Amino acid sequence: MNQSYVFYQGEIVKESEVNISIRCKAFNYGLACFEGIRAYWDEETQQLYVFRLKEHYERLLQSCKTLNINIPYTIEQLIDATIKLLRKNNFKTITYIRPMAYKGADSIGPTLNDDDDRILIYCQPLGSYTGKDRLKVAVTSWTRLEDNMLPPRTKATAAYLNSALASLEVTKNGYDEAIFLTKSGHVCEGPGENIFIVRRGKIITPSISDNILEGITRDTVMTLAEKELGIEVVERSISRTELYAADEVFFSGTAMEVTPVVEVDNRVIGDGKPGYISKKIKELFFSITTGKDPKYSHFCTPVY
Ligand SMILES: Cc1ncc(COP(=O)(O)O)c(C=O)c1O
Repeated sequence: MNQSYVFYQGEIVKESEVNISIRCKAFNYGLACFEGIRAYWDEETQQLYVFRLKEHYERLLQSCKTLNINIPYTIEQLIDATIKLLRKNNFKTITYIRPMAYKGADSIGPTLNDDDDRILIYCQPLGSYTGKDRLKVAVTSWTRLEDNMLPPRTKATAAYLNSALASLEVTKNGYDEAIFLTKSGHVCEGPGENIFIVRRGKIITPSISDNILEGITRDTVMTLAEKELGIEVVERSISRTELYAADEVFFSGTAMEVTPVVEVDNRVIGDGKPGYISKKIKELFFSITTGKDPKYSHFCTPVY
């Protein structure tokens, strides 16, 4: 993988040529934020489509603003750099793209007011994130970070220690993925994905004030549910036991895509199989990622 090309400080270079200081604050203190973007290869048209590229860079620049990381690129320039990078790597498969904006090594302290701001973008092939089409999950004993502690909305790298601890706990206990609760005990999200439940024909998802990342796949799911299936999506707080009472549960995320959950805390959800609405949403999601649906072609940026 280190023979792949990366975008580093304005240039496309070989990954092996990137030299990051041991004093870098992203490494020392997690003073960084990132994005996760997917590109989908369409065999029929021999085209690679990046999914909702603009929205990902809008979110990155919003994260940078909150964290006082000043990178001298516009959204259009970042889109252009990403396309050039994918072309240079000549990827013709489903690909994950990771832009990262971070504080360099200007001084020793954990300060966000230095000027040594940096950006890099790397990419790699990435198929199914879990390798499973249905998940058995558990609520973690780790509480999700609050907006006023370490804002999950910013996709700050440091927040992923919270995610990693939750994942470690539940995978050691034999589950596939974790679900976080907020400090007030409401359902929040997974370590790297948003959550939805289906109850009495409605889709419900935690609201953006419940310390979630405002997921781009979440937004896509909400659009597809309302526009294509005519199903109402309600954003509100969800209690832990409402998960057990749900007819269906599913996750959404760039890496996770749309993945049904069939068990929560050893309680079977519905009849223990991926539910009708989860399957429909998943099907619709994959039908729009390769640019074939003219209604959603604005979500897909062609690379070649
Ligand atoms: C904590 C967290 N929640 C939710 C998501 C899903 O967001 P998106 O759909 O934009 O990838 C991610 C992935 O980026 C995440 O890391």
